[in-house]
Amino acid sequence: MRRRKILQLCSSTLIALPACSTKKDALGLGVGNNNSALATYPNPQSAKMGANTQYRPPAYVNNGLRNPNIDLPSSFNGKTVTHSRGLSSSPFVAMTFDDGPHPRNTPRLLDILRARNIRATFYVIGGNVDRYPHIVRRIVAEGHEIGNHTYTHRKLTSLSDSEVKKEMRRTQDAIVRAAGVKPRTMRPPYGALYQRQRSSIFSDFGYPTIMWSVDPLDWKRPGPSVVKSRIISKAHNGAIILAHDLHAPTVDAMPGTFDGLLSRGYKFITVSQLLAQKRLA
Ligand code: NI
Repeated sequence: MRRRKILQLCSSTLIALPACSTKKDALGLGVGNNNSALATYPNPQSAKMGANTQYRPPAYVNNGLRNPNIDLPSSFNGKTVTHSRGLSSSPFVAMTFDDGPHPRNTPRLLDILRARNIRATFYVIGGNVDRYPHIVRRIVAEGHEIGNHTYTHRKLTSLSDSEVKKEMRRTQDAIVRAAGVKPRTMRPPYGALYQRQRSSIFSDFGYPTIMWSVDPLDWKRPGPSVVKSRIISKAHNGAIILAHDLHAPTVDAMPGTFDGLLSRGYKFITVSQLLAQKRLA
């Protein structure tokens, strides 16, 4: 459905990756759209774009609310397999976005996050990583965390052990190829994963299973203002907040959501930073 073109070029402009020089990227950015974020982000389908094209960030547009610079440790270890929240003693929250990267919505979300100095965690689908590796590189280059959300977004409870392993492995490999980093956590599509499967993934890949404590049900498309008010009203210290950068209305809701949470004193950190604060048994 989406037009794709194979280009032999390195679309990453912020970090140099050895794998990038010869890799064929299957890219599907739409042409001719008027999105302002994309207008400033290199369009790999542009014939004018060469290997030396520099990424130019758009001007900051928010009205001043900014997340503080947070330099918390992000290494965690322990035997706890499933996490759905962090500590309740500090006003830290982790914003998580599933099912991307998306060629228009994810870059727009990244602009919104950057304008507020917020780091988030992206649970990406491996197939989308292979379609839009340049967006994954941007996610990582801007300090966000990447998590594994399977390659095909199938319900893992209906798959065999070897199929589950393949879903995890293919996605991890795609992320490493695209951005040179390995994910540290996973989130199962639909939140569906048996305890036994969680333990296997934890021992095979070292990924704890990350669920959530705040769910605005944004995938039902209730509209940006409802998504925003649900998240703000349900937020709590240590919250892991679920949202989907796949959906344009969810991204539309984020400026007001972030500003609402910042004005209430919440501070944004990544999932790994949230886990590192917990004493993991
Ligand atoms: Ni999902």
